[in-house]
Amino acid sequence: MLKLSLIVWLLCSLTWRTTPTSCRQTRPAPSIQELLATQLQSYMDTKARPCENFYQYACGNWQLHQQAPQDNKEEQPAVGQQQHQQQPQRDQREAQQDSQLQPSDTLAVLDYSLNRQLELLLRRGNAAGNESSAEEQQLLPELHEKMRSYYRACKRLKPYNLKKYLQLLPPSNGNHWPLLSRSWQPEKFNWLATIGRLRLYGLNGVLLKEQVLPRWDDAGSYSLYLDKPGLVETAPMGEGAMIELLLDIGQTKRVANELARQVDSFERQLHRLQELEDDEGAKEMQLGYLAEDLPQLQWLNYMQQLLGHDLDLRSTLIIQNVPYLRALDKLLQRQKPETLCNYIMLKLLAFLKQQGPAEISRVECIASLRRAMPLAASWLIGQRFHDPSNEAIVSDLFSRLKLRFGQLLAENRLQLQPLIVQVLREKLQAMRLQLGFVQLNDSDQVENYYERVQLSAHNFYGNQLALLRLRVEQNHELLLRENNCSLSDLSYLMELWQSSSSSPFYVKPRNLVMLPYGLLQLPVWHRNMSELQQHAMLGFALAHELLHGFDSSGIEYDSVGNIMGPSEEISSNSRFAQSLNCMQQQLATGSRSLNEKLADYEALRVVYETFFGADMLVDRKEPRDPLLPQFSQRQRFFISFAQFFCGKLQSLSLQASQHLEHAVDELRVLQTLANYEEFSREFGCERRTKMQAKQKCKVW
Ligand SMILES: *[C@@H]1O[C@H](CO)[C@@H](O)[C@H](O)[C@H]1NC(C)=O
Ligand SMILES: *[C@@H]1O[C@H](CO)[C@@H](O)[C@H](O)[C@H]1NC(C)=O
Ligand SMILES: *[C@@H]1O[C@H](CO)[C@@H](O)[C@H](O)[C@H]1NC(C)=O
Ligand SMILES: *[C@@H]1O[C@H](CO)[C@@H](O)[C@H](O)[C@H]1NC(C)=O
Ligand SMILES: [Zn+2]
Repeated sequence: MLKLSLIVWLLCSLTWRTTPTSCRQTRPAPSIQELLATQLQSYMDTKARPCENFYQYACGNWQLHQQAPQDNKEEQPAVGQQQHQQQPQRDQREAQQDSQLQPSDTLAVLDYSLNRQLELLLRRGNAAGNESSAEEQQLLPELHEKMRSYYRACKRLKPYNLKKYLQLLPPSNGNHWPLLSRSWQPEKFNWLATIGRLRLYGLNGVLLKEQVLPRWDDAGSYSLYLDKPGLVETAPMGEGAMIELLLDIGQTKRVANELARQVDSFERQLHRLQELEDDEGAKEMQLGYLAEDLPQLQWLNYMQQLLGHDLDLRSTLIIQNVPYLRALDKLLQRQKPETLCNYIMLKLLAFLKQQGPAEISRVECIASLRRAMPLAASWLIGQRFHDPSNEAIVSDLFSRLKLRFGQLLAENRLQLQPLIVQVLREKLQAMRLQLGFVQLNDSDQVENYYERVQLSAHNFYGNQLALLRLRVEQNHELLLRENNCSLSDLSYLMELWQSSSSSPFYVKPRNLVMLPYGLLQLPVWHRNMSELQQHAMLGFALAHELLHGFDSSGIEYDSVGNIMGPSEEISSNSRFAQSLNCMQQQLATGSRSLNEKLADYEALRVVYETFFGADMLVDRKEPRDPLLPQFSQRQRFFISFAQFFCGKLQSLSLQASQHLEHAVDELRVLQTLANYEEFSREFGCERRTKMQAKQKCKVW
């Protein structure tokens, strides 16, 4: 329930800025700290035992409170009526037409509320020429208009028809998709030219992966990288997902079943190629030389589609996993062209569907807009919802986390050479926190980025493809810049899903922690939140990203983002190896990668010690918070930390993958806390309880 009133409060506070009367009638709002204290308690299942399953204890009732505002009145429990009535009538009506998708975790709750605010913003500007819109028109009116066009075209989609994409994007050489046309000519099909052409519209990681990335030896300039697709990218889609796509484009069940079976068998063979080792390593070569070196693959066909016909054969690229590429060619020789073409088509459909709205609703069309125009969305969220007075608080928090981790490095538990410790501390020193993908005063960058693209309020598919193409082109144009990019320019990341999410992340080649403007919103952040809660939530998130600079892959990068870090010296240290091994043991129970574990374990320690001080022997009689007198401060810290990861429990009958995803978050909390002696001390957990790991792992 409290969640609901928080969201209502958010919407009111937003509306309040422009229409001063609409929220006045409600009684004086409780303070943020009161709201959050009530919320914290409401999520807890105090019948669960904290030393047995802390996640259940902290998050057991979370789901009961996620009746987001779109719920119908009838479905509200009686106790909810009161708050519900406060919601403006207009909102309620809209809410009922709106999404049935329920946010499934804290970040999803945050993004949902952000998307609703953005939607109001774009729609208001639409109602021609009022004070608010006049004010916002001053800043990049054309960009606003483009975003609005995308949004409107999305809302008009009825129905969302995947087949349209295939009509707009035939495979290369004047050929057609085999499923859609009798005039499909297998002999004219060229897989490299086809994926080259589709790469231009954002498809990547299908058979091979092509990216523009900062150079490994000079992160200030870019190179073209060719590689095999990642493990996740080749993970078989499964016949079910393929059949669904095929039915979406109007195939019969019989055809869909038959085709999915063929493609599935190919996909499994392809996935097995992942096992090939890269015993040749990365090589840099000229395009012309590549064509001679791996003649079985017609590279020039691919590159011509992507870079245009005036290819410079002397331009270089960095190629990795050559043994995979050779084996790929052999595998593809054995396939019928039709199977291969259908595989590419299915991957294309899955990709585009993911970029589009999950359903035609206001919120989902905004979510799709954020995926299609990530740079513009980041800028707009920063412009409209970012409170600059947060900046000092957040950057102070980040500095103190750095300070504490710097002390840990100096203590040198691993007994590394002094020179290596020095290098690590310099890297930490140089690590930056960046808010948003674009500086708010740099509207030129955003405007220039979107300048050449034209969008129409009546052509959703065309808009989407134009924007996808724009970002691939923009990325490839980075290759033409002469060693002249600013290290805060993150536009090369626009093809990543992170660019449209509110989740923070660490950018290794830039040595910076990227914090999207969107994250500094309730329920994750408010400047009036207690410092304790700021540390337990945002502080943990920042510390986790900071630690990625010092995980087993982060140590390969130096302070300016070149792959010249002291990784060999550190990896050969036996204590470091032991620590990783300790975590490896716990991975056996099925959770994320080793580096995620490292970042979680170490970040909790760093942020806890940043807040409470590193001296564990001090008198612990901190005064209790009058709002939550039943918990000590330290207990409350762990509860807030755990609640950042509260999520929806999927019943087993629902999609298995989602269930797994959730199990991961639950496991994350349980393992991270069980690994930390301060946690068990604070809750008085005995040795044999589940929340006490047998072995506690520590790296730095
Ligand atoms: C946050 O705190 C300030 C100063 O204490 C107060 O003026 C403001 O109203 C508070 N904001 C909210 C939303 O509670
Ligand atoms: C805002 O809209 C109202 C009604 O449409 C109109 O009366 C008013 O003049 C507008 N305000 C401005 C500043 O244009
Ligand atoms: C934006 O502000 C930063 C510091 O606040 C400054 O260094 C930078 O030059 C400004 N950029 C532009 C384009 O004005
Ligand atoms: C560096 O880039 C800027 C714009 O990004 C451009 O105006 C300038 O001419 C470039 N300088 C060099 C030396 O290439
Ligand atoms: Zn991580």
